[in-house]
Amino acid sequence: MAETKRVGVLTGGGDAPGLNPAIKGLVYRGSELGLEVIGLFDGWRSLMNPAPDVLPLDRETVRRWDRDGGTNLGSSRTNPFKQVNAEGEAQDRSHEVVENIQRLNLDALVVCGGEDTLGVAAVLAERGVPIVGVPKTIDKDLAGTDYTLGFDTALRNISEVIEHSRTPAGSHGWVQIVEVMGRHAGHLALWSGVAGQAHLILIPEHPFRYERVFHLLSARLGESDLSRGLSRRPRYSVIVVAEGARAEDGEMVTIDDRHDAFGHVRLGGIGEVLARRIAAETPYEARAVVLGHPQRGGAPSPIDRIMGMLFGTRAAEAVAEQCFGMLVSARGVAPACEFSLVDISTVRGKINVVDVERYYDTDRYHMKGLGM
Ligand code: F6P
Repeated sequence: MAETKRVGVLTGGGDAPGLNPAIKGLVYRGSELGLEVIGLFDGWRSLMNPAPDVLPLDRETVRRWDRDGGTNLGSSRTNPFKQVNAEGEAQDRSHEVVENIQRLNLDALVVCGGEDTLGVAAVLAERGVPIVGVPKTIDKDLAGTDYTLGFDTALRNISEVIEHSRTPAGSHGWVQIVEVMGRHAGHLALWSGVAGQAHLILIPEHPFRYERVFHLLSARLGESDLSRGLSRRPRYSVIVVAEGARAEDGEMVTIDDRHDAFGHVRLGGIGEVLARRIAAETPYEARAVVLGHPQRGGAPSPIDRIMGMLFGTRAAEAVAEQCFGMLVSARGVAPACEFSLVDISTVRGKINVVDVERYYDTDRYHMKGLGM
């Protein structure tokens, strides 16, 4: 029997439903392959602690994790290459991560994350740290894979809100704007907009024109105030706008001017900007809602449970076969994907955005070919 290998697992960046099933898959398949799995808390932060807090993960511990949303190991947006000290200077503390991996006697590390967490993993892998990556982010914007954990559940959550937003909008006669996450990628906005049957969908990949939005609204709603009387004409409209969308002549809207450890601004507010313009320049009343973090909430969908288990299983196999410096990649339509290992450096420097040519109708601001 092969010697037991000790494997650390961490989850970093924004949480996502599907992470806990992935850990369960890693532990279950790992137990067949001689892997002993150790949970590390709060992403890279755990490995920068002089005495890392760890949780041994056996089959009994993770047996019910497939049903849990979020991540039972906690998460953080920690960049070991850029840690700001008390004097406000940025320091590279990645050597502490490497020292802790040795201190904990880890033979390998499974890193579940998006562009940032896996970007750190890619650099460490180049330096010889034995790492396997698992892709997760509700944004589905990671290069090197067609699926990232959390996307399907977020789609479910957002579609439900879009659906629920039509009754108040219809009763009162207004334009409801639903602002959704996704950073610089419009996958969540586009697909949830179709699933929830929004009337217009605005994505970061194609800057919109206000005049065109107003025109499309009046083509649907007519020229008068929507709250007057009932007619056969729709009295409301739902617009889905991605947090990273912007007008042709405008900038992306941010919550404030702070940046996170990876240099990202926090996007948010385009929905309200749009609502104000509609209220000021058309006859219609408008309301905006920012869905925020609950988009990532709740129990994983069936797809995220299955994909989590499959990603975790493949990660265990990659560790057992000592295929390090790799990302588990899923190609095709989830869950019937083809799994393979791709170089983990694939995730660095580029993101996967909506193919406008193929999917987006730039006149109707909707999915191409649906007649919407
Ligand atoms: O990357 C996932 C995501 O939810 C993005 O869609 C969003 O812009 C960002 O995280 C929000 O960041 P935070 O969780 O740090 O507020």
